[in-house]
Amino acid sequence: GKAGYDWFMLKEIDEQPQAVADTLLGRLGERGEIVLDEVRISDEDLRGITKIFVIACGTAYHAGLIAKYAIEHWTRIPVEVELASEFRYRDPVLDRSTLVVVISQSGETMDTLMAVRHAKEQQARVLAICNANGSTIPRESDAVLYTRAGPEVAVASTKGFLTQVVACYLVGLFLAQVRGLKYEDEVAAVVAELRKLPDQVREVLAGMDEVRELGRSLATESTILFLGRHVGYPVALEGALKLKELAYIHAEGFAAGELKHGSIALVGAGTPVIVVVPSPHGRESLHGKVVSNIQEVRARGARTIVIAEEGDDDVLPYADHVIRVPRTPTLLAPVVTTVPLQILACEIADTRGLDVDMPRNLAKSVTVE
Ligand code: F6R
Repeated sequence: GKAGYDWFMLKEIDEQPQAVADTLLGRLGERGEIVLDEVRISDEDLRGITKIFVIACGTAYHAGLIAKYAIEHWTRIPVEVELASEFRYRDPVLDRSTLVVVISQSGETMDTLMAVRHAKEQQARVLAICNANGSTIPRESDAVLYTRAGPEVAVASTKGFLTQVVACYLVGLFLAQVRGLKYEDEVAAVVAELRKLPDQVREVLAGMDEVRELGRSLATESTILFLGRHVGYPVALEGALKLKELAYIHAEGFAAGELKHGSIALVGAGTPVIVVVPSPHGRESLHGKVVSNIQEVRARGARTIVIAEEGDDDVLPYADHVIRVPRTPTLLAPVVTTVPLQILACEIADTRGLDVDMPRNLAKSVTVE
């Protein structure tokens, strides 16, 4: 049941601290190492990998986009992320030294399953990141890393997504560890940060009432834009997808750097623009560029809603609303910055009188191509 919540989605959003903790459970060793005994691909094979494909659909694809930033940084292996429905029909270049990581909450998505079969035919190694135990995709893959989010009932994925992102971090760090590349030292430092994530998600959820109130004020909008850069870009795409599917509002996610190449023409008086700001403690230029983007859209009349780290006061002059998230390393930030976007979409849809758990035209698992 909904355990007192109006919607399964709200319940599942609230379960995220536990879900993230469960994804990490037993997988972080005492010396700051990653323990993934369940990934039954030999160390020798893992050391021989020269290329990684990450393949998924919808929200899981956004998790894959985040994975690219992390895995390439930690392992220096090139990563390509692709929609499952495109991958199969494109004649991708794969061989024995390719690792294909497929991401699927349900483990039953037909396009993703077909990608698994295609990859196996080409002799690639296939690792599934999956939530539903014993589903088809993990059964057909060489190895599986379960996200352990528990059953997700709402059609829109929330805890499924957050745990997919965390599982991708584990895969990236594990590969860095096995391969012993120069970023190995970083593994232990990142592990310490991973351990903080469940409490940090809890902290974001504690500010939920304010975000819900903001959501109610956005319910009559016809277009809402989302901007992000680096890992904030897939977060922007995910925020836009949640809003489209739940509230039936036109929403688009943009790479903030692309604004000036066209999309800024969409910004007019009062257009809500939600901006995911990178940590000011990460690469300074990255933070500064996004702050300038907020300034640019505000100068054209946008109503700016800014998701920024605690203590980041650079955004204050240009933000109509600030949603605070705790400080994390840049690569891990999606785990906290996505949460307010889920709540916003949920609240906007609810205010519009829509069925949050069962949006029109959608099914929880898409078992047709
Ligand atoms: C959006 C959503 C969908 C799924 C997609 C893939 O909220 O839930 O976009 O992410 O259909 O589903 P899985 O992960 O089950 O393969």
